[in-house]
Amino acid sequence: MIARRSRVFVAFLLALSFYFFHQAFFSNPGSKGFDFVIPNGNNRIQYPFKEKFKGITANARDVEKAEAVKRVMKRTWKFYKERAWGYDEIRPVTGAHRNSRNGWGATIIDSMTTTAIMGLSDIFADQYDWVVNRVDFNKAEGLVDPFETTIRYLGALVSTVDLLEAGLIPPPSPTFRKDILKQAKTLADNLGPVFDTPTGMMWPRINFTEARGMDMYGRRHQHVEVHLARAGSHWLEYSTLSHLTGDGVYLENSTKAWDCLVFNRRGEPWPGILESPRSIWTGLPVGTTRTLGAPDDSHYEYLIKAHLLRPNHSTKHHAKRWYQAMTSAQKYLASITKSQTDPHTFLLSYSKGRYENNMGHLTCFIGGNLLLGAKYLSQPSLFKFGEALIEGCRHSYVSMPSKVGPEGWSWMPRESHLRPPHFPGPITLPQKEMYEKTGIWLTAENYNLRPEVVESYFYGWRITGDEKYRRWAWEAFEAIVKATEAEWGYSEVDDVTEVRKEGNLRDTSESFWSAETLKYLYLIFEDPELCSLDEWVFNTEAHPLKRRL
Ligand SMILES: *[C@@H]1O[C@H](CO)[C@@H](O)[C@H](O)[C@H]1NC(C)=O
Ligand SMILES: *[C@@H]1O[C@H](CO)[C@@H](O)[C@H](O)[C@H]1NC(C)=O
Ligand SMILES: *[C@@H]1O[C@H](CO)[C@@H](O)[C@H](O)[C@H]1NC(C)=O
Repeated sequence: MIARRSRVFVAFLLALSFYFFHQAFFSNPGSKGFDFVIPNGNNRIQYPFKEKFKGITANARDVEKAEAVKRVMKRTWKFYKERAWGYDEIRPVTGAHRNSRNGWGATIIDSMTTTAIMGLSDIFADQYDWVVNRVDFNKAEGLVDPFETTIRYLGALVSTVDLLEAGLIPPPSPTFRKDILKQAKTLADNLGPVFDTPTGMMWPRINFTEARGMDMYGRRHQHVEVHLARAGSHWLEYSTLSHLTGDGVYLENSTKAWDCLVFNRRGEPWPGILESPRSIWTGLPVGTTRTLGAPDDSHYEYLIKAHLLRPNHSTKHHAKRWYQAMTSAQKYLASITKSQTDPHTFLLSYSKGRYENNMGHLTCFIGGNLLLGAKYLSQPSLFKFGEALIEGCRHSYVSMPSKVGPEGWSWMPRESHLRPPHFPGPITLPQKEMYEKTGIWLTAENYNLRPEVVESYFYGWRITGDEKYRRWAWEAFEAIVKATEAEWGYSEVDDVTEVRKEGNLRDTSESFWSAETLKYLYLIFEDPELCSLDEWVFNTEAHPLKRRL
């Protein structure tokens, strides 16, 4: 009897030690509590519009509104071409121009996928000619930022090949694939030296003349650090480039660089959420910020999108990491405003051991990203969280006198454990007045023509089919055009609490206005089969990439 008992005991001990051994050496960090199967890419994401609209998705179009957005795109292009051709951007108030993205004609290249989707063949032909015959990616004005270059230029080029191959617009030349990819390869090859670090993580800048990675100021030293978005937003573009060219080096370099974040085992206080920034030398955290907002945002955005783009055994891990991060965000960073009558959901950040009751326009991509991933993974709680965050972002728009949302705002969290005495309340008189009226106060009053709020409406509409997202999108479109319209285009606004005040326009207009904001708005009112989320994944600059299922 005793002998048998001890045998059972020994067997139990063996099993226990095997379990701990296995946990210690083989399991992924934070994988506990992960108890569902990741689908193999084939879960439907879009709402079944066909059933709702009598078997024809085109019946869902709102032609008048789509045309209104297209007219704004045409007007944007007309003045850019007239006054700023070949420069990165037009100055929409004075009609001057500026180079902010190395002088490769950012507005031309970044908006190619928008004109292709809108069927603007004449404009597209000009853009195509620029890409194939004019732009020179062998020289650059100023230091090159591999993050901005990858999401805007490289993303646009590979996406254009995908869109042309899918027949969205008649190709301007039968050799388009070879010709565009030649340029894309030149650009990516010139960026190559950014991967020359002990970890494979990317330098934040590169000097094309020296062909060497640099810090932001053009220096080389061992204390270079990067935030998560810079370190982790290239895999969609690089894997597509490898797929289209058959050259695996892009995918290899990008995978290695991102693995330092995806498979990290340090600096992850909450499952999936990484402390930022990180050293490119060691991959380890050198800062203590935990946020889904800028400057860490698109690392999280890309985790689920990597899996959607190439659903296979390896990228299931990325989907899992996304799930962990979003679950942690819901648990640790979600915050509801104090108001009993008009509560809104926002996202906190955490830094240096403290919560920060601050959110930015850039963070508003997260609602749409949550809907995308939660629908795919069938996670109703995360889905609701995403919808609540989209509503919160809408509140930041409609509570402003201009009905356009600000760059940054604060609120008083209802959760008392999140509200230690350190939370600063509204300070100035205008902040106090706004807080009284709206439950938020502004920390940055400007609007930079950014897309994130309408981007989330786009996911809202395409995934739920709920008309409210189209109403919200139209309301935003009208307000944005009214607030930003300038003599030579559309301009950043200094202060969204003013309606068309003299001197309120900043005279800048970044390429994401036409690449992203107008594209998402257009797609909301077009046939929902156009760039369906079941077939395409949008990179963080709104360039659609074909899913390879
Ligand atoms: C890049 O390197 C070249 C050669 O060392 C130098 O002349 C140039 O100023 C550098 N460019 C920038 C933007 O730092
Ligand atoms: C790939 O990474 C290596 C460093 O590991 C770098 O030297 C090379 O230039 C990179 N190539 C490309 C095309 O990114
Ligand atoms: C999954 O796809 C990615 C991108 O093509 C590739 O790098 C990886 O090796 C694939 N993994 C498996 C297990 O097939």
